[in-house]
Amino acid sequence: MRITRRQMGQALGAASASTLFGTRGVAAAIGGSTNLSFPKDFRWGCATAAYQIEGAVKEDGRGPTNWDVFSHTPGKVFGGHTGDVADDSYHRYREDTQLLKNLGVSSYRMSLAWSRIFPEGRGQPNPKGIDHYKRVIDNLLENGIEPYVTLFHWDLPAALPGGWQNRDTASAFADYAGYAAGALSDRVKHFITVNELRCFTDLSHLQGIHAPGLKLPPAEVNQVRHHGVLAHGLGVQAIRAHAKAGTQVGIADNTTVYVPVIETAEHIAAAKKATRELNAMFLTAIMEGRYIDEYLAAEGANAPRVQPGDMAAIGSPLDFLALNIYAPEWVRADASPRGYATIPHIASSPHMASPWLIVGPEVAYWGIREVSELWRPKVLYVSENGASADDPIENGRIDDADRVMYLRNYITQFHRAVSEGYPLKGYFLWSLMDNFEWADGYSKRFGIHYVDFETQKRIPKLSAAWYKEVIARNSVV
Ligand code: FCB
Repeated sequence: MRITRRQMGQALGAASASTLFGTRGVAAAIGGSTNLSFPKDFRWGCATAAYQIEGAVKEDGRGPTNWDVFSHTPGKVFGGHTGDVADDSYHRYREDTQLLKNLGVSSYRMSLAWSRIFPEGRGQPNPKGIDHYKRVIDNLLENGIEPYVTLFHWDLPAALPGGWQNRDTASAFADYAGYAAGALSDRVKHFITVNELRCFTDLSHLQGIHAPGLKLPPAEVNQVRHHGVLAHGLGVQAIRAHAKAGTQVGIADNTTVYVPVIETAEHIAAAKKATRELNAMFLTAIMEGRYIDEYLAAEGANAPRVQPGDMAAIGSPLDFLALNIYAPEWVRADASPRGYATIPHIASSPHMASPWLIVGPEVAYWGIREVSELWRPKVLYVSENGASADDPIENGRIDDADRVMYLRNYITQFHRAVSEGYPLKGYFLWSLMDNFEWADGYSKRFGIHYVDFETQKRIPKLSAAWYKEVIARNSVV
């Protein structure tokens, strides 16, 4: 029997909801679940990155980076915006710690600016760089907040010749990572090597949208990708060699997650296969320690040049795996030899303020599930999830109900993964506050705190109040 929405409303009016569905069934019928609480030790946090929030680009010996160069090149970043001042968090980090404390988070994902520590990318370290981060980290610890430290979130020292096109950059990264972890592992237990392989390789060297803004041919792009995963792998080894025993090492990757368009066995299998094969140059290589045959066959003569020992380094076992999860890619089973077909986004696909940020909360569940089933990581984190919104400010209030809607739906799907036993241990919301959103400059706001970039005043948005409640109750609200 088909029931229209109108008939359903009448039925609910006539009988109490619980007699119709049973107590659990009511919530299920409206798309929820009766218990959306997270395990007691689940970590709630926020995330930021150095170039996006720090400013102070010429202070205390910081060397220039690819993003300083790029943002100062006319036409590269929206409105000619730069990270010169950003959120001025270099000077205001104590205030920012208080924003975190007020939310009640247990954890904070931040990144180090490589060029503050090694202004030239390698060689002599600058003591003022590491000292600054010791102060920031101590301030977090004094406030009961545990730092998760990303070593490379895209701000590459400009002095490194050839940037990621040069294999030497991978070993320069490892030297820096080993040094930083050695200096900080008395206070930092979790290090993340690099952020989002696909962005600092493809977006930067294939699409040319991010620094250094290149559009290279396929063989050269594959080589840049190889240097990216190699940097990660050598970085893992260097951190292990220099950090205190027990230090946890992982990566924050934006693995493209292929989501079954219908939850049936055939579409689920197709989506999982797509996630493995279409991330072959990134996470699949890291988790399997090799480039899979499908990738090598597809790339042919353009496949990366690999040296002995590279794949073993790339495949170094990780203590945790962290994923940045935003937009879904929909997939269906297909009769073609590879067995799947991706479904393109179209104009009517719902998205947030950033056109790329297609809304599909199911990606949260399927990302965690597919990665768990494919590679069995011991511990998973969501190292980023969040949304851009227009955020009109009225009478001093920012009622970002759209961001709350987005977050609630995504976190509900993460809860689904946790409740099915996948090893997701924590969630970092992107972002603590509005900041320099790369090629979009300050035109896209992702914060749960509004930043007035004229005065540097931070104002909690509605989403901050909502997230605080989620954390206090340890449950979706
Ligand atoms: C991710 C980046 C992060 C931020 C968010 C919106 O790709 O890692 O720095 O820009 O997107």
